Amino acid sequence: MKPSLFSMTVILFLLHVRKTSCVDYRYSNCSQTFQCGSIANIGYPYWGQKRPDYCGRPEFELNCTGDAPVMTMESLQFRILDIYNTSYTLNVTRADYWDTYCPSEFSNTTIDSSFFEYTSNTQNMFLYYNCTRSLIGLAGISNQFTCDIDNDTMTGYYTLKNLTSDTNSTVREVCGINVNIPVYQENAQAIQNNLTNDNLVQVLDGGFGLLWDANNSICEACRESNGQCGYNSSTNQFVCFCEDQPFPASCQTTESDSPGSAGFRQRGHILGRVVNALCFVDFVLMYF
Ligand SMILES: *[C@@H]1O[C@H](CO)[C@@H](O)[C@H](O)[C@H]1NC(C)=O
Ligand SMILES: *[C@@H]1O[C@H](CO)[C@@H](O)[C@H](O)[C@H]1NC(C)=O
Ligand SMILES: *[C@@H]1O[C@H](CO)[C@@H](O)[C@H](O)[C@H]1NC(C)=O
Ligand SMILES: *[C@@H]1O[C@H](CO)[C@@H](O)[C@H](O)[C@H]1NC(C)=O
Ligand SMILES: *[C@@H]1O[C@H](CO)[C@@H](O)[C@H](O)[C@H]1NC(C)=O
Ligand SMILES: *[C@@H]1O[C@H](CO)[C@@H](O)[C@H](O)[C@H]1NC(C)=O
Ligand SMILES: *[C@@H]1O[C@H](CO)[C@@H](O)[C@H](O)[C@H]1NC(C)=O
Ligand SMILES: *[C@@H]1O[C@H](CO)[C@@H](O)[C@H](O)[C@H]1NC(C)=O
Ligand SMILES: *[C@@H]1O[C@H](CO)[C@@H](O)[C@H](O)[C@H]1NC(C)=O
Ligand SMILES: *[C@@H]1O[C@H](CO)[C@@H](O)[C@H](O)[C@H]1NC(C)=O
Ligand SMILES: *[C@@H]1O[C@H](CO)[C@@H](O)[C@H](O)[C@H]1NC(C)=O
Ligand SMILES: *[C@@H]1O[C@H](CO)[C@@H](O)[C@H](O)[C@H]1NC(C)=O
Repeated sequence: MKPSLFSMTVILFLLHVRKTSCVDYRYSNCSQTFQCGSIANIGYPYWGQKRPDYCGRPEFELNCTGDAPVMTMESLQFRILDIYNTSYTLNVTRADYWDTYCPSEFSNTTIDSSFFEYTSNTQNMFLYYNCTRSLIGLAGISNQFTCDIDNDTMTGYYTLKNLTSDTNSTVREVCGINVNIPVYQENAQAIQNNLTNDNLVQVLDGGFGLLWDANNSICEACRESNGQCGYNSSTNQFVCFCEDQPFPASCQTTESDSPGSAGFRQRGHILGRVVNALCFVDFVLMYF
């Protein structure tokens, strides 16, 4: 018997049903990692561009318009140099300090401590601007730089060491502006005895480490149950998108979900059962 137009139509319909009804669209959308700037394979909790907001947490939105991903935190922009998704670690720099020590505005570095902390190999570097006299010779200060801001040439200094409280208060008196910028310890140590302005830029561009926590352990459990991590914006809670439907933490097996319903999930309404039955028919058709 040759296949009739009718049976072809039925098969196409069922394939359509399988695509649209059997797999939750949030599950399939969030299965896609994305490329942002020069970084590929970015997944939960990050989102942006083609990856919808429910695939990540609001705080982890990435702006992909430049050559590197940019994340905004506490109204500061951070340029992401690398994402290490197995250790939940970011390598970042402040976007306003990228390739320069003269930003257009001055602000300390603050991070959102609900989700981030500095890695243990990160330390502060201190930069001072608009200084009214020379600080060279004071503990650890051996180099000066200038910044042209608003037609004004400012003299600045920096140190990688903590200052004694005496020296510190002198520096604060002399320089109207002081700012802390985190850097990797190993980079700071490498230039400790060779403080040049080129090296200062290199250490700033080398970045610093941030550890993130966006329900990491719940997300691991979700992935182990073959789910995709996501976010429910109406409850502001983690959600695990599973092939058939979302669950709060991890995908439930059909058996434990509805014991005694012959392997089909109890959906509470007849449509769900019909869809499940169609999925099953579709599954059978795929193999015969
Ligand atoms: C998410 O999935 C739906 C349904 O498959 C699709 O229409 C939509 O374009 C997807 N969204 C994104 C951002 O990929
Ligand atoms: C983690 O990164 C690896 C390598 O870039 C990538 O293959 C994988 O999909 C990523 N996993 C997640 C969950 O982002
Ligand atoms: C991304 O960054 C660019 C350049 O800074 C900016 O113009 C744009 O509005 C940003 N997009 C979003 C979605 O924040
Ligand atoms: C941070 O990223 C920069 C630029 O990709 C790289 O040179 C540096 O080695 C990275 N540092 C760490 C500690 O991963
Ligand atoms: C940065 O923090 C220090 C110490 O908390 C403060 O004295 C300084 O004014 C801050 N700098 C700016 C630019 O806000
Ligand atoms: C730098 O100091 C001068 C005078 O001490 C002051 O007029 C100027 O506003 C300061 N610049 C900034 C950016 O704070
Ligand atoms: C800088 O100098 C130029 C020319 O002298 C002047 O037109 C401009 O208004 C100045 N800008 C500021 C911010 O003072
Ligand atoms: C500098 O001070 C900070 C905080 O007060 C401290 O955590 C750090 O260990 C000190 N670093 C050095 C080199 O003494
Ligand atoms: C100077 O003192 C301030 C306020 O106590 C402190 O936050 C900062 O870390 C000190 N800076 C240095 C370089 O020791
Ligand atoms: C200091 O750093 C510069 C690079 O900025 C390098 O060319 C020079 O050899 C270094 N000097 C010493 C003594 O290490
Ligand atoms: C989000 O939470 C609300 C309230 O509990 C619930 O009705 C909704 O189904 C959840 N959405 C997802 C995608 O889990
Ligand atoms: C996830 O993390 C947030 C904040 O870190 C916390 O309030 C919440 O209880 C955690 N668990 C879930 C299921 O969202």
